[in-house]
Amino acid sequence: LRILVAGSEAHPLIKTGGLADVAASLPAALRQLGHDARLVIPGYPLAMRQLREPKPLGEIRIQGYRSAIRLVEGRHPDHDLPVYLVDAPEYFAREGNPYCDPTGRDWGDNPDRFLLFCRVLALMAQGLPAIGWRPDVFHGNDWQTGLAPTLLQDAPWSPARVFTIHNLAYQGLFDHATFDRLELPPALWNLAGLEFHQRLSFIKGGIVFSERINTVSPTYAEEVRTARFGCGLDGLLRQIGHRFSGILNGIDYQVWNPAGDPLILQNYDAERFGLKTENKLDVQRELGLPRSEDAFVLGYVGRLVEQKGVDLIQAILPELLPDPRVQVMILASGERRCEQALLELAAANPRQIGVYIGYDETRAHRIEAGCDAFLMPSRFEPCGLNQIYSLRYGTPPIVHRTGGLADTVVPATAEHLAKGTATGFVFDEPTPAALLGAVRRAMRLYCDDPDGWRRLAVTGMSQDFSWESSARRYIELYNDAIADRMALEHARSA
Ligand code: ADP
Ligand code: GLC
Repeated sequence: LRILVAGSEAHPLIKTGGLADVAASLPAALRQLGHDARLVIPGYPLAMRQLREPKPLGEIRIQGYRSAIRLVEGRHPDHDLPVYLVDAPEYFAREGNPYCDPTGRDWGDNPDRFLLFCRVLALMAQGLPAIGWRPDVFHGNDWQTGLAPTLLQDAPWSPARVFTIHNLAYQGLFDHATFDRLELPPALWNLAGLEFHQRLSFIKGGIVFSERINTVSPTYAEEVRTARFGCGLDGLLRQIGHRFSGILNGIDYQVWNPAGDPLILQNYDAERFGLKTENKLDVQRELGLPRSEDAFVLGYVGRLVEQKGVDLIQAILPELLPDPRVQVMILASGERRCEQALLELAAANPRQIGVYIGYDETRAHRIEAGCDAFLMPSRFEPCGLNQIYSLRYGTPPIVHRTGGLADTVVPATAEHLAKGTATGFVFDEPTPAALLGAVRRAMRLYCDDPDGWRRLAVTGMSQDFSWESSARRYIELYNDAIADRMALEHARSA
């Protein structure tokens, strides 16, 4: 199959979260299976600088746009994967975060930026002469690509359209004045179109106008059909029935593998689990904590937003810290208030809490390798990649039973421990008490039963969450979408 995968970020060209990891490794995995998958993202300066063998493909003319829009074709830095960058300087030539300005506020022209991106995607999906390639499937990811299927709906020809929701909490919502300003077809202002509670919804464009829609784990696919997790779209997601499903993300073991990871001090694997301690001592040193093999080190890496439940971690610290064996390491960035609070906590507890505020790939690898257990108390989690990384790094995750966390971690119940199938610690409600209970269970096993701990960690290390089987599921989804599209075309021409 020929598949055009589109997203607003892709590792390592530009990344703020897990979407970037998936946008790069899924098309790479599809190519491994023999399919012609290609990737397109906006031409942010960081991405432009890292693209291999860049080749300008010439200008694209779009009605109503005066400024130059160019396409650049190149290769992905790490994979055998063609990548297109939409080089529209007026919209994308901004350093740093792809969505917000240096103060952390969303760019005011985000709807214009991503509408332009979608206009280019729709043209590419129909086959641009400059590329000489026409995809069978257009695969959009998240709201930034949602208007591409919408625009394709009225095109003379369209490939089959698949849309993946990586996080339903981000919908790309804007006011009616924006809808007018963007000069979208007025007929789209409709509950069966882009309208969502009197606002313009980009994500609805992807959901309504694609043949197949999926999210990134089976459990999250169930959850978002309920009012508690559906962010107002649960009705629509129930309504589209079998067109909506869940496919668990894979991870890229080329990037996340303690046996060969060049970013950590000491490589190790399940047979040499003991060597992991060297990484613990190293990261303790790096974060200014006392170097101690006996400490029980808890780690967190991630964005500081309500979703991730970092406030739950903060809430249980007063209970945990009286035990001098406990250390906590946090690498995070996001809400300024939360960043400040974490820094203050670290300053007040310099022997037990190490905090690094910022986005830092190397430190993320070192924390995965150096901690004993990994905290992921997310209130909801479409898939979550960090817990899967931590499994591979022998750093058992402590997770809330939700979304992809529930689908990837086998709880350390008496039964699973006895069978040797447990890989982590799972709690049922996103409350401090429940998290504290799980941390205490983990610490008890770690301190009182080192062999039991090692068995749990090593079982996690041997789990296989590689992309191959997930990529095969996507191929099935693409084929279903193509069949639907063809049936539709057939009906139309009959
Ligand atoms: P989400 O996409 O919701 O942020 P995921 O667990 O799917 O959550 O993916 C997060 C990705 O971003 C992981 O690859 C993680 O290592 C990375 N990441 C998040 N915050 C940071 C940070 N401060 N520094 C380095 N990497 C980070
Ligand atoms: C989103 C979700 C996360 C998921 C990632 C990649 O950012 O929050 O759970 O792992 O996308 O699909």
